[in-house]
Amino acid sequence: MSLPAGGQAERHRQFGFTAEHFAFIVGLVRERTGIVLADNKQDMVYGRLTRRLRALSLDSFADYVALLRSSAGAAELTAFTNALTTNLTSFFRESHHFDHLRDAVLPRLAARAAAGGERRLRIWSAGCSSGEEAYSAAMVVLSALPEADRWDARILATDIDSSMVAHGREGLYDAERVARVPADLRRRFVETVPGRSDKVRMAAPLRRIVAFKRLNLLGRWPMAGRFDVVFCRNVAIYFDKPTQATLHRRLAEILTDDGVLYIGHSETLAAATEVFRGHGRTIYSKA
Ligand SMILES: C[S@@+](CC[C@H](N)C(=O)[O-])C[C@H]1O[C@@H](n2cnc3c(N)ncnc32)[C@H](O)[C@@H]1O
Repeated sequence: MSLPAGGQAERHRQFGFTAEHFAFIVGLVRERTGIVLADNKQDMVYGRLTRRLRALSLDSFADYVALLRSSAGAAELTAFTNALTTNLTSFFRESHHFDHLRDAVLPRLAARAAAGGERRLRIWSAGCSSGEEAYSAAMVVLSALPEADRWDARILATDIDSSMVAHGREGLYDAERVARVPADLRRRFVETVPGRSDKVRMAAPLRRIVAFKRLNLLGRWPMAGRFDVVFCRNVAIYFDKPTQATLHRRLAEILTDDGVLYIGHSETLAAATEVFRGHGRTIYSKA
């Protein structure tokens, strides 16, 4: 007999959900994404995956697990992964990073260009969710970098969740989400959508410099050049310590020599301190 997976909602569950089902799902999502789901996530997993069961007209988690185990389940793996990522984000979240970009990074790059260096800027939003982080950075670049239109400035925004990547690429958001965008930037870079008072769109100059791609941070990184700035915020918190350490060391390698890494407010580089130097408030450069 299989034991039911624990959790408060257990008694109200429509579909049988056992400890074995949960363990299989935890193992699969960890293998595919690095995300570690603790035992207290059982209700969350149940809630998110029952939507998949309904979409597939399946009657039980046993059938769903059997599908994922089978060769026919390959097509379901993307939806499975998308269902289990946590995508919370917002425009200008942890705004001191955007202040640092404007006040420290961009002036340094502009000074270098003025001294004969190339006008090249590369930013990576690694684990971009629906794109708010990347578009916030784009607003700062286009408003604060002198003669930005004469620069080769590009922002790469990547996420493992294909639905988030598609959302970001579309650049369409609920109107209330841009409330945190400073008013001058909102006037310049956020457009109304004809016939849709509930929606806003990122203006074309932003969409021109931000490119969205699906990418698993645990897999191969196909990017050829290095980055002046990497935002990797509130992503590694879902990984175990060895995975975090490997990720942070790889990020050090992909940064330019004076490149900057921003991490989330509750994160540390504890396992990779030898490769980074801290500048306070979750801002790092290469050691
Ligand atoms: C909480 S959001 C953070 C979004 C944004 N960086 C921020 O701080 O507002 C975490 C994102 O990391 C993505 N993610 C999780 N594991 C990933 C992996 N292995 N590779 C790429 N992205 C991943 C999730 O899909 C999710 O969109």
